[in-house]
Amino acid sequence: MQGEVWYPSDDVVAAAVVPDHDALAAAAAADPVGFWADRANELEWFEPWEKTLDDSNAPFFKWFTGARTNIVHNAVDRHISGPHKNKLALIWVGENGDHATYSYFALNREVERMANVIRSMGVRKGDRVTIYLPRIPELHFAMLACAKLGAVHSVVFAGYSADALHDRVNASESKLLITADGAWINGQVFPLKGIVDEALRFSPSVENVIVVRRTGQDVTMDALRDHWYHDLVALPIAKGRCETVKMDAEDPLFILYTSGSTGKPKAIVHTHGGYMVGVYATMKYVFDLREEDRYWCTADPGWITGHSYLVYGPLLNGATAFMYEGGPTYPYPNKWWQLIEYYGITIFYTAPTAIRSLMRFGDAWVNRHDLSSLRLLGSVGEPINPEAWRWFHRVIGKERCPLMDTWWQTETGAFQICPTPSMPLKPGSAGKPFFGQAVEILDEEGRPVPAGQEGLLVLTNPWPAMLRTLYREDERYVESYWSKFPGKYLAGDAARVDEDGYVWVIGRSDDVIKVSGHRLGTAEVESALVSHPVVTEAAAIGLPHEVKGNAIHAFVVIKPGIEPTLELGEQIRQHVGAQLSPIAKPDTVEFVYSLPKTRSGKIMRRVLKARALGQDEGDLSTLEAD
Ligand code: PRX
Repeated sequence: MQGEVWYPSDDVVAAAVVPDHDALAAAAAADPVGFWADRANELEWFEPWEKTLDDSNAPFFKWFTGARTNIVHNAVDRHISGPHKNKLALIWVGENGDHATYSYFALNREVERMANVIRSMGVRKGDRVTIYLPRIPELHFAMLACAKLGAVHSVVFAGYSADALHDRVNASESKLLITADGAWINGQVFPLKGIVDEALRFSPSVENVIVVRRTGQDVTMDALRDHWYHDLVALPIAKGRCETVKMDAEDPLFILYTSGSTGKPKAIVHTHGGYMVGVYATMKYVFDLREEDRYWCTADPGWITGHSYLVYGPLLNGATAFMYEGGPTYPYPNKWWQLIEYYGITIFYTAPTAIRSLMRFGDAWVNRHDLSSLRLLGSVGEPINPEAWRWFHRVIGKERCPLMDTWWQTETGAFQICPTPSMPLKPGSAGKPFFGQAVEILDEEGRPVPAGQEGLLVLTNPWPAMLRTLYREDERYVESYWSKFPGKYLAGDAARVDEDGYVWVIGRSDDVIKVSGHRLGTAEVESALVSHPVVTEAAAIGLPHEVKGNAIHAFVVIKPGIEPTLELGEQIRQHVGAQLSPIAKPDTVEFVYSLPKTRSGKIMRRVLKARALGQDEGDLSTLEAD
């Protein structure tokens, strides 16, 4: 094999769920649909499927058609009548030192209570519920309670602004919103309820708001609309069993908004059946789950990683998940290492941006802790540069823990390109397509490029956890993913495949920027910029950043007569933070007289990027004359 390669130790291979990666990959490649049918058979179904894959109306693929199921049946219900009943499902630690544990039995009790409450508010199968909660156990309960009733959850990351929340609540026409009074962030209270009040000013679909008490400060409660969760669960309606609704495999489980290359976020739709099978199997094979594992995924359930590999994946496998409310560096940069040691975490899944930021604090913070419980590491969200990979592998994993770099997307629901622990690893490569998947690297015209050459990444096989559509936007679904190369799923990433078949993802190839692993559309940032009263035109680009991967650099044209001062630049930055989310705040705001545009008026971000990086601006023949 070429380049730097890490071979797994014999014990890792011998104990792996998949000891022979290549053999299973070959079998799955010969019959991908059969591979998925076998995985689905490892779970329980109320009614079996008639067809594993229905591709008669591609790209609107359907999986396990005719089957009846509910993801909660496999994630929770089946465990309480089996050997996992008293096993811990969730260990939770709050940033302020609060902590709680839930066995599968206790989790089920909490989910039933919350489901009873939600049902009492008139929420039924198919209704949408927005969840806007910090990383607290009620977030798990709320997601699972919705799914149990067949309601469609739409989790909005609790760092999003009132405007962003408003748009998502209205676009999904949610009937109910579940939130908390506040969240703990770096020792401070972040006032969630106030943001909700602002967001719901013009949200006619929302009938009720459930408020979980987390931080305890005074909040305004609308007597007709808002209800404390602790009051509701004390009522008789919360008591008693709550039946898990039997769903069609293809019924929607959730909507999750993510950024695309236009201003309007994309509402990705996932289903009960296929998503369940995809998440269950990828989690089991790639993280090599064992009965005794304590698994920690640092992602927030507000993103797909939290949905698939913090909430649903561990539960579908009967595993024990750990969730921490806070971040890695508060009060000191050893917080995560301390938690790994104290709770005996065995599998640790995080993002390159976190690794890079922690690396900068030096090894001494890590070496104060005994991390010998760890046996496997994972990375997700953006390409992990070889330097960060090596540090994670050496300093955290002591060169004994396989490091699974998992490539996937909100759209894919589950891992698509990733190693398994029995496979040799190359630092910086996400490994090979998951079992049953295949990729191609194409040029602009759709021709495969030779090995080693960069091109556009496409997935060529349908997979159970794939998005089914964009909520109420079927055409945009086809247009975004299936129209450039018909029959192939366009990921929006640039990548290359080396001679050994390893995939190297380079980054987004469209107008999406990954900032600290978070996905932002340039158009979204630009519309936040131009909503500032003095900004008349704006362009946002991503520039390489040592810790964040990419940082946003904004170019703004301001109204004539207004002084372009440092203060104004800062004000514009803060404005974007307040309009969209603090993650979206540009690192730099540059005042310009005009923006380079094509004759048809499209901003040439490529030219701006080259200028900002001091590179050759390339072909300017389509540039509009000033
Ligand atoms: O560019 C790729 C990058 O994240 C994008 C998907 O973002 P999102 O939908 O927010 O989901 C993130 C978590 C699954 C991809 O198009 N990406 C994600 N994982 C990796 C990655 N890039 C390189 N390597 C990865 N492991």
